[in-house]
Amino acid sequence: MSFVTPANNRVLSGMRPTGRLHLGHYHGVLKNWVELQHTHECLFFVADLHALTTHYEDPRGIPDNAYEMTIDWLAAGVNPGSATLFVQSWVPQHAELHLLLSMISPLGWLERVPSFKDQQEQLKDRDLATYGFLGYPLLMSADVLIYRAGQVPVGEDQVPHLEVTRELARRFNHLYGGEPDFAERAEQAIGKMGKKNAKLYREQRRRYQEQGETEALDVARALLESQQNISLGDRERLFGYLEGGSRIILPEPQPLLTRAAKMPGLDGRKMSKSYGNAIALREKPADVEQKIRTMPTDPARIRRTDPGEPEKCPVWPLHQIYSSDEVRDWAQEGCRSAGIGCLDCKQPVIEGVLAELRPFQERAAEYENDPGLVRSVLNEGTQAARELADETMDEVRRAMGLVYR
Ligand code: TRP
Ligand code: SF4
Repeated sequence: MSFVTPANNRVLSGMRPTGRLHLGHYHGVLKNWVELQHTHECLFFVADLHALTTHYEDPRGIPDNAYEMTIDWLAAGVNPGSATLFVQSWVPQHAELHLLLSMISPLGWLERVPSFKDQQEQLKDRDLATYGFLGYPLLMSADVLIYRAGQVPVGEDQVPHLEVTRELARRFNHLYGGEPDFAERAEQAIGKMGKKNAKLYREQRRRYQEQGETEALDVARALLESQQNISLGDRERLFGYLEGGSRIILPEPQPLLTRAAKMPGLDGRKMSKSYGNAIALREKPADVEQKIRTMPTDPARIRRTDPGEPEKCPVWPLHQIYSSDEVRDWAQEGCRSAGIGCLDCKQPVIEGVLAELRPFQERAAEYENDPGLVRSVLNEGTQAARELADETMDEVRRAMGLVYR
């Protein structure tokens, strides 16, 4: 069984199914997922319920987008053998935890999240004065907490949501982690670790509580993680006992900030589907070539003989990503001296993008030809996710007084 600890290594992230993914998604998010799947236990899911919070009036695109997005993940190298891929709504426990957490969510916490007002103003054509949209960070909290994930890869804009998640976890543990005989049971649990470890645990706990040494906290947590002989309940107690007087049923997650890789689009602005300046992950090679060949360049280069300035050209940021130092020197020199034409200059970029996309298209082909394969990846992942979610929900239901018959 997986360890359930506050310091835990489990990674969880979701993406709303909004359509085909492009190179911006790859460099900003997916590359990171692909790396994490080798070092961490990873769960990645299609956040279709989150899509409904804004697209409830016309949800028809969701199923196709969910499948296409999953193919894009697989194409980019997310490996169902290493990571668990699933669909949020296929694990109804997310909705159950969302409801239960709503009981303890102060309205103010949700209303204060910046995206709540911002999005309402930006998406004026939709009525987002809904209970569901207000609950966006709450649903996200349920997503994270139900797997007791320790690390959540997100963009900057999602950090306030995770802050809500952390506050909710704290509030939940405070409200429901308390037991009248907590200290006694914690002491008993210490006894079950064996003499040497019990002594180590007590020492670290004292160092943390008396000296505030957070290092001691880390040591003690690692010690707990390595204990095979104690039950889940005792583990929760001992985690809680390090810091205070209640069990840690829902550990607080940490955001794992994706380094702000702003993939430049074809017009110099950030790559985005809504700007129409994107290259899709499964773009046909001929279309990639066409798109780059027709990219705007430094407007000063009207004729082939006019010198240009790379700093004023949208192609230049792509050289930073796809070209070697040598090629960059060549392009810079050739541009400023009018020694090369813009199509010459673009050629290495075209080749760089094509080389990056080639393995994607190869991997995607298998799935595109067999939709049943994608479905079974998602079904298997969902099955595994449900089992993990159920472990937490048993504890949550019990803690909230819902286990009786
Ligand atoms: N809200 C996230 C986004 O728009 C997607 C998401 C939903 C998510 N639930 C999550 C991300 C849980 C991380 C963890 O990007
Ligand atoms: Fe841009 Fe290259 Fe043309 Fe210079 S030569 S304007 S850098 S495409």
